Amino acid sequence: MNLSIGLTVNGERRDIVLDDPRVTLLDLLRERLELTGTKKGCDRGQCGACTILVDGKRINACLALAVSHDGADILTIEGVANGEHLHPVQAAFIAHDGFQCGFCTPGQIMSAIGLIAEGHAGDDSERIREGMSGNLCRCGAYAGITEAVQEAQKILGNTRTERAA
Ligand code: FES
Ligand code: FES
Repeated sequence: MNLSIGLTVNGERRDIVLDDPRVTLLDLLRERLELTGTKKGCDRGQCGACTILVDGKRINACLALAVSHDGADILTIEGVANGEHLHPVQAAFIAHDGFQCGFCTPGQIMSAIGLIAEGHAGDDSERIREGMSGNLCRCGAYAGITEAVQEAQKILGNTRTERAA
């Protein structure tokens, strides 16, 4: 059975024929659209490595069936910078050493962008840690991640800017 869906991925319209209705957004992004910045960690909704924004909301792409998101607007790590200009969250992760091996980093950054856009990040490190708790880091770079989200939150405020200016 073939199913056709249309997605906007990082601002670009993509029309896709699915040959399997069980394909997840994560596998679609990585294997069909060659957007491998979104990582597959646990593949069962427990690590957050696959976090993307769908219609502005954070989700675990490994738990999302592509067929259920026909018409959705998807933002992945590949779409957050504006040409050479890093997104403020990306720049803050670099400035605060918010990573070591980098495997979890795309998911962390997408989750942070979502958290800030939700207006729930605030300045409080405890709230930020709670808001980012779905994103695990095996390297334990949590202190830098929290500082990075704090700094990006100051720059972005409660604006709902998702892409770099
Ligand atoms: S790969 Fe999706 S939550 Fe771990
Ligand atoms: S930086 Fe290595 S898993 Fe987070």
